[in-house]
Amino acid sequence: SGEVAAPAASWWRTAERERLLRLGAERTPRYVYHLPTVRQQARELKSLGAVDRLHYAVKANTHPAILKALAEEGFGFECVSPGELKAVLAAVPESAPLLFTPNFAPRADYEWALTTRATISLDALYQLENWGELFRGREIVLRVDLGRGLGHHEKVRTGGSGSKFGLPVELVDSFLRLADAHGVIVRGLHAHLGSGILDEGHWGEVYGQLASLAERIGSVAFLDIGGGLGVPSHPGEARLDIAALDRVLRSVKAAYPHYQLWMEPGRYLVADAGVLLARVTQQKGKGSWRYLGVDTGMNSLIRPALYEAWHEIVNLTRLDEPATGLFQVVGPICESGDVLGTDRRLPEAQEGDVVLVAQAGAYGKVMSSPYNMRDEAEEVILD
Ligand code: LLP
Repeated sequence: SGEVAAPAASWWRTAERERLLRLGAERTPRYVYHLPTVRQQARELKSLGAVDRLHYAVKANTHPAILKALAEEGFGFECVSPGELKAVLAAVPESAPLLFTPNFAPRADYEWALTTRATISLDALYQLENWGELFRGREIVLRVDLGRGLGHHEKVRTGGSGSKFGLPVELVDSFLRLADAHGVIVRGLHAHLGSGILDEGHWGEVYGQLASLAERIGSVAFLDIGGGLGVPSHPGEARLDIAALDRVLRSVKAAYPHYQLWMEPGRYLVADAGVLLARVTQQKGKGSWRYLGVDTGMNSLIRPALYEAWHEIVNLTRLDEPATGLFQVVGPICESGDVLGTDRRLPEAQEGDVVLVAQAGAYGKVMSSPYNMRDEAEEVILD
């Protein structure tokens, strides 16, 4: 793997710190997104020489300025719902490639997506058994389940038994018979094992497995090996080594040069580009625990509650003061799970201090809710 990660992406720690303090003093909760970081991540992935096409997994962050920036970098877009497709169609130029990869979606979603230029992914026999006429004469992508999942938490692994995604490889022949019967052409194969993966080698394995399956099918022109590119979150975790990933992919491509290679990263492009700003509300000691309260919690960022995800948290107002206390950083929501960070070393805080939750650009705002009828976080773009 690559070098040890810097403590966190540094744009908020250095160049933009004063601006963030002003934004936080003005109003919280606020998500702030740094477009230069999105572009930098995009360019890093564009250096993957074996990859012919990159689709941004829109679900990670749907802000129109981010969609525009990625379109300018030459990305296509992977969408899982009509809402995501509409967001992309509204924000970016006509020519950007679109991929529609829903799961357990209603028939009407496919009917509507077929009126757009999106390439459509199927992932069950049901769709051809029951709605075959919709897809007659179409070129589609078949999403398969290669029998295993990977990722930072059990809830984000999307393969193997216990996962609802993809057509099991054993059923591919049945799918092909149905496709034949309905005049449907399987032009692509797709697999996505999960999210938050820091092992470069696995994409090579997926690529190889899809390629050998494609050899049996004949009509396949491209292989989509999914997204899932992780970013280190815990201090000391190693970054994905993009040069190593490139070598892995090139070696598979050498064996199967006749297929286009596609990937669909979400988190990698936007996680470090976003922070959540909140303000200190109250403090409390209970037994040996100290609680530091801020004005938003799982309603704005549910990842710590849902996956025990680790997000770096700093008191931006007191970034240079020594961390003398050990705190549970909690929000104002009426649930014990409403925690943004456990056991954090932070300076002594005061009401109104601006607290920054890092690496919140992916799966932050998009997973927020109106729970407890708290104000939703506003989004601000820095460019
Ligand atoms: N492609 C497919 C088919 C997917 O299901 C996903 C993510 C992606 C691509 C993009 O994965 P990424 O590159 O962002 O890891 N809410 C969770 C992550 C759920 C991911 C769902 N699917 C989290 O906050 O960690």
